[in-house]
Amino acid sequence: MKVKKAIVPAAGLGTRFLPATKSVPKELLPIVDTPTIQYIVEEVHQAGIETVVLVTGKGKTGIVDHFDLNSELQAKLESEGKYDLARLLNEASGLVKIVSTRQQSPRGLGHAVLCAKDIVGDEPFAVLLGDDLVDAEVPCTKQMIDVYNKYGKSVVALMKVSDEDISKFGCAAGAELEPGVLDLNKMVEKPALEEAPSRYAIVGRYILTPKIFEILERQTPGKGGEIQLTDAMARLMKEEGFVGYLFKGDRYDAGDKFGFIQANIAYALKMPEIKDRLLEYMKSLVTSKL
Ligand code: G1P
Repeated sequence: MKVKKAIVPAAGLGTRFLPATKSVPKELLPIVDTPTIQYIVEEVHQAGIETVVLVTGKGKTGIVDHFDLNSELQAKLESEGKYDLARLLNEASGLVKIVSTRQQSPRGLGHAVLCAKDIVGDEPFAVLLGDDLVDAEVPCTKQMIDVYNKYGKSVVALMKVSDEDISKFGCAAGAELEPGVLDLNKMVEKPALEEAPSRYAIVGRYILTPKIFEILERQTPGKGGEIQLTDAMARLMKEEGFVGYLFKGDRYDAGDKFGFIQANIAYALKMPEIKDRLLEYMKSLVTSKL
């Protein structure tokens, strides 16, 4: 069955970016000039998905506004001959259909996904976490849909990390089906290093079958007292099988201060009007700070 919808959880409190996130949703913090969530919605669109289900929460209405048309400002910019800005202004609207629902209380990622159950219905769907930006030639979600279509099982994106980092992620292990594709037999949310079954970390891109909703409805709180998506995925793996996929591309953790700065530099270096000046600046920093 075709993957037509994507859930984008956006209810998190964003405490890691206070005070910026006191009144601005963290999903709207820009990478250079574009909110992180716009990159996510663009990836969904490029993967051929038609509908995004935003799971928002208190203080997050600005996200929905961002994907709306702002016709007044567009008309004003056009009347001033600022056509490039007018195009940029509404670029994100109309890419996909945006539907939003609310998570009433922060009960975990698994619970956020469950909030979209009635909108998604009985079909496979994608989940994209806004903190994980993936810069790739073929959009990560498109790569994952291709793997889903080949194996007919749920798919989770994986990347290899160091011993030091594995406890910061969900962790998955399994037997290789082909290079970069694993038939998973273990999934654990943020294991202690001694208990980690591999060094494959779960990245925030998933293709899930609708069976996950049934499991999430019965899922008890796990790590941190929250309803964890990884715990429900581990059960789904036992019932239907689950594939792990080492995606191709560069991943940035935009939910972390250092990762956010890295993403800003990487995306700025792709902009011809900034690239040379930025490189010069970084060169001068290296010379003066070292
Ligand atoms: C979530 C998931 C975790 C995954 C991570 C990827 O954790 O629970 O399994 O590895 O996203 O970014 P969070 O970072 O929201 O704590």
